[in-house]
Amino acid sequence: MRKLLLQLDSSRLPSVFDRVVAYDAGADEVMSYGDITEPDVRDLIHGCIFTRGPKDLKNTAVFVGGADMAVGEQLLAAATKAMFKPFTVSAMLDSNGSNTTAVAAVAKMVQTVGGEVRGKRVLIVAGTGPVGIRAAGLFAKAGADVCITSRKADAGERARALVLKRFGGSVRAITMPDAREAIRACERAELLLNAGPAGVMLVPKQAWANRPGLKVVADVNAVPPLGVEGVELMDDGVIKEGVACFGALAIGNLKMKVHKACIARLFERNDLVLDAETIADVARELMAPKP
Ligand SMILES: NC(=O)c1ccc[n+]([C@@H]2O[C@H](COP(=O)([O-])OP(=O)(O)OC[C@H]3O[C@@H](n4cnc5c(N)ncnc54)[C@H](OP(=O)(O)O)[C@@H]3O)[C@@H](O)[C@H]2O)c1
Repeated sequence: MRKLLLQLDSSRLPSVFDRVVAYDAGADEVMSYGDITEPDVRDLIHGCIFTRGPKDLKNTAVFVGGADMAVGEQLLAAATKAMFKPFTVSAMLDSNGSNTTAVAAVAKMVQTVGGEVRGKRVLIVAGTGPVGIRAAGLFAKAGADVCITSRKADAGERARALVLKRFGGSVRAITMPDAREAIRACERAELLLNAGPAGVMLVPKQAWANRPGLKVVADVNAVPPLGVEGVELMDDGVIKEGVACFGALAIGNLKMKVHKACIARLFERNDLVLDAETIADVARELMAPKP
C-alpha cells in the first residue's frame, strides 16, 4: 500500500524542503497544503482517517510545518483532536525544522557537557524563532536556567510565554538589539546557541572566545556570514579558544538523520505523535553507541 503523507503548512507555500525530505525518507506521495489555519484541519484529517481500514492507517501520516511555531502547535492539536480510536494516523510537528534542528543542536550541546544541564545557564541568541523556541523548551525541560534574546522586549516576552506554557521550567528573556550587545548578553552563559536568521552574524568572537565558564557554543545559521564569528560550518565539537564548537552543517547532518528517521517511523504505526520530546527520543536512539 502506498505511503501517503499529508503536509499541513501554515505558510502560503508548503515547504519544499519538508517535501523532499519526506520523499527521501520513504513517503510515496506527499499531499501538500499551504496557508492552513485551525478550522481547515478537521476535514483534512477526516480525509485521512476514513479512507483506509484501521489496519492500513499506518500507511497514512500527517506532517505539520510552516514558519509560525504557535500556529504549528495549534494545527497539531487540531489534527490529533480530529482523530479517535481506531481511526488515527501518526502525526509530526516540525515548523521551520524547529523540532528536528533544535533537538540536534541541544543533543550535541548536552552530550558535550556530560549529559546533564540541570541548573546550567543556557543563552539562546535570537531565541524567538521556531528553532530557538524549541531549543529553549528542550533545555528548560531538562532543568537548565534558560535565557533567550530578542531585538524587542515584547517579542522576547511572547516567546518566553510560549516556551513556559508548553515546557515549564526556568526561562527569561532579555533584549539584545544587535551584535554589539552580544558581549554583555553572553557574559554568564555556560552553553550558548545562536538561533538567529540565515546570513546574520550575531555573536562576535570577542563575546565567546576564552570566556570563563563557557563550555560550548553552537550555531544553526548555515548561510554566510555565519551566526557565531569563528565557528565554522563543519565544526563538530572541536575546541577553539577553550570552548567546544558546533557549526550549522555538523548540527544539520544530525538534524537530517533525525528528520528522516522520524518520517519513516510515522509509517510504522498509526498512533505516533512526534513533537519535541518524542523527536529527542529518536535522536537519543540514533546517537546511542552501537553494541
Ligand atoms: N542547521 C540546520 O539544519 C537548520 C535547519 C533549520 C533552520 N536552520 C536555521 O536556524 C536558524 C533559526 O531558524 P528560525 O526559523 O527559528 O529563525 P527565524 O525565525 O528566521 O529567526 C529567528 C529570530 O531571529 C531574529 N531576527 C530576524 N531577523 C534578524 C536580523 N536581521 N538581525 C537580528 N535578528 C534577527 C528574530 O527575532 P527578534 O525579532 O525577536 O529579534 C527571529 O525571531 C536560521 O538561521 C535557519 O536558517 C538551520
